[in-house]
Amino acid sequence: MIVTIATKPYDDQKPGTSGLRKKVPVFQQKDYAENFIQSIFDSLEGFAGKTLVIGGDGRFYNREVIQTAIRMAAANGFGRVLVGKGGILSTPAASHVIRKYEAFGGIVLSASHNPGGPTEDFGIKYNIGNGGPAPEKITDAIFARTKSIDSYKTVETPDLDLDSIGRQEVAGMVVEVIDPVSDYADLMEELFDFAAIRDLIKSGFRVVMDSMSAVTGPYAVEILEKRLGAPAGSVRNAEPLPDFGHHHPDPNLVHAKELYDDVMSPGGPDFGAASDGDGDRNMVVGKGMFVTPSDSLAVIAANATCAPGYAKGIAGIARSMPTSAASDRVAEKLGIGMYETPTGWKFFGNLMDAGKVTVCGEESFGTGSSHVREKDGLWAVLFWLNIIAARKESVKDIVVKHWAEYGRNYYSRHDYEGIDTEKANGLIVALRDKLASLPGTKIGSLVVNAADDFAYTDPVDHSVSKNQGVRVLFEGGSRVVFRLSGTGTSGATLRVYVERYEPDPSRHDIETQTALADLIAAAETLAEIKSRTGMDEPTVIT
Ligand code: G1P
Ligand code: ZN
Repeated sequence: MIVTIATKPYDDQKPGTSGLRKKVPVFQQKDYAENFIQSIFDSLEGFAGKTLVIGGDGRFYNREVIQTAIRMAAANGFGRVLVGKGGILSTPAASHVIRKYEAFGGIVLSASHNPGGPTEDFGIKYNIGNGGPAPEKITDAIFARTKSIDSYKTVETPDLDLDSIGRQEVAGMVVEVIDPVSDYADLMEELFDFAAIRDLIKSGFRVVMDSMSAVTGPYAVEILEKRLGAPAGSVRNAEPLPDFGHHHPDPNLVHAKELYDDVMSPGGPDFGAASDGDGDRNMVVGKGMFVTPSDSLAVIAANATCAPGYAKGIAGIARSMPTSAASDRVAEKLGIGMYETPTGWKFFGNLMDAGKVTVCGEESFGTGSSHVREKDGLWAVLFWLNIIAARKESVKDIVVKHWAEYGRNYYSRHDYEGIDTEKANGLIVALRDKLASLPGTKIGSLVVNAADDFAYTDPVDHSVSKNQGVRVLFEGGSRVVFRLSGTGTSGATLRVYVERYEPDPSRHDIETQTALADLIAAAETLAEIKSRTGMDEPTVIT
């Protein structure tokens, strides 16, 4: 039954920020997914007889690749596969299942917040036994293997039934189809004060969640509606669809605008949340207040002891470099460690494993903690509800008081999508070339304090990651950061991150883009974005 099939390598299988991401037709090429999956297995050691978790966000092509991955796991000698019913596991739920059942690792099929469908995006990611994305050492080995692969192993067998919970066997390997929701929902119930949140909802506090026709629907219905008593229909777009109902399942002010407008409207809900394709991102809005992801991390960290799972306090905080420094001030006040890492959740894994940090976040709508090793959208939503229930204050009051105590970090990200790759690289190279000459110079009324290309040495394994983004820091705690996206699937995307620190509470209600205007102008002066990209304005502002 086990067969070895000859194959030829593809030269474009380099895993990016979150695994291998390509358009579906690329994945549909002969042996394309097989080559990558075999390259993963060939880069691992010691998994014979062990457990592999497999699941995805349900997007187009999910089912096909799940079948392929199960066959190949059996042929390569895994002892057991745990797979979510219907091939579904949200990314944080997959991380939890890997940890809970002490699996060797997991294969997560997703292209996160990118659209799904026959001509849209797909992705394959390998997670290690701690439940988190494979570190660079492994992803580099996988990439190296893709370049020389000449065969893969599989099993000749019909498709498995993934729609009934239970146990099957393939070539001596056990396949268990599990309920994707229950383990995760139980974990949330351990971490948060469900009784307090239930009372809050019972008192008339109106919660809505937009699952954007992506993976969190069943999780949110179980937790918010069934366990916490929110009225039926509180979870919108709750059914996961292969094309996400043509939604762009990215929870931000552009793609979750309808939800935002609803919460802001008179008589609208008190609290709105949204999550992305695979359930690891989140957006939180309260009446009159959109919470930036950077502020969300800071507020969660400052109020962590409200939640039973964090009642003893947090060990430390980590944030990606482009994320605002709002949480740095919380760490300082709490007297705990603060870590600034490169972009991508994989850099948090070592810090959490070593017990150095408990909560982590990225400006890109990612927040999470050491309960799993991925960012976790619903976790963040529940943390906010727990804080609101404990403090008996609105989202807006909580945030405004936070700023009054710590100061406000005005923050925005400007994305320039679909730039010609050479032009984008040229822009970054030109910036790098002028870094040394910048300190002390004036741009408008701003004075440059320091400028560098961010490099990170992992405090645990001492690995070094270079060229992680150009940062220009100004006097007073303002800064501009430039980097190229590592998750795009067509052309290049330039991300410009702009941040200004404002300690004075009387200046905390300025419109964000206005508050940042001089820094946005400085970014243009520094990087010559318009002339180099031919774009007059960003494609997305968050
Ligand atoms: C983006 C985000 C980054 C996040 C990643 C995966 O990566 O910026 O924070 O970890 O998606 O969700 P980028 O496209 O910027 O490389
Ligand atoms: Zn995601």
